[in-house]
Amino acid sequence: MTETIAIERIREDHIESFHEALDTVSRERKYLTFLEAPPLEATRAFVQDMIKGGHPQVVAMVDGKVVGWCDIRRNARETHAHCGALGMGIIPGYRDKGLGRRLITAALDLARGSGLHRVELHVHADNPRAIALYEKVGFVREGVARDAVKIDGRFIDAIQMAVIFG
Ligand SMILES: CC(C)(COP(=O)(O)OP(=O)(O)OC[C@H]1O[C@@H](n2cnc3c(N)ncnc32)[C@H](O)[C@@H]1OP(=O)(O)O)[C@@H](O)C(=O)NCCC(=O)NCCS
Repeated sequence: MTETIAIERIREDHIESFHEALDTVSRERKYLTFLEAPPLEATRAFVQDMIKGGHPQVVAMVDGKVVGWCDIRRNARETHAHCGALGMGIIPGYRDKGLGRRLITAALDLARGSGLHRVELHVHADNPRAIALYEKVGFVREGVARDAVKIDGRFIDAIQMAVIFG
């Protein structure tokens, strides 16, 4: 069913809709580091920099609207430049239909093609759906940052995961 949803590399004209999707998922106060999206202009600058730097960032599009995204940002320091940090999200209504797998697979393919060696991420320990998806595409748990996150007075462990391209 999600096969009809197009996965595209992000472009300038996706930015406002991407910002809205990021804000929607952030405001759920469960999954992301953000509790609301950064201001539109900061998001625009981030995406423009991703495009300019050739960093993998893909969006899932429905009727011209961004319903999900996955980005992998290459580390700027030379000693860590073989590593990229992954972030992703899908707005409610489009989850649990295989879209996450499509988004992350597309972004990882771009990352591999761009010569990255390692992709890493942090995921909240109480997000089994995300953890399951990451493990299905090859990520391995590397450690736990205990109580690293606090949302609405509740501490949450952050699990560090990474995949190494062979
Ligand atoms: C996490 C997220 C990207 C996953 O994408 P999705 O489209 O919902 O998930 P998918 O349908 O592609 O795949 C999830 C896989 O995990 C499995 N899964 C789902 N919930 C699970 C659970 N509680 N335990 C174990 N496996 C689970 C599914 O069966 C599926 O496996 P399959 O492909 O073998 O059927 C999406 O749900 C989302 O954006 N959630 C909110 C934001 C978020 O959590 N972002 C990540 C922050 S680190």
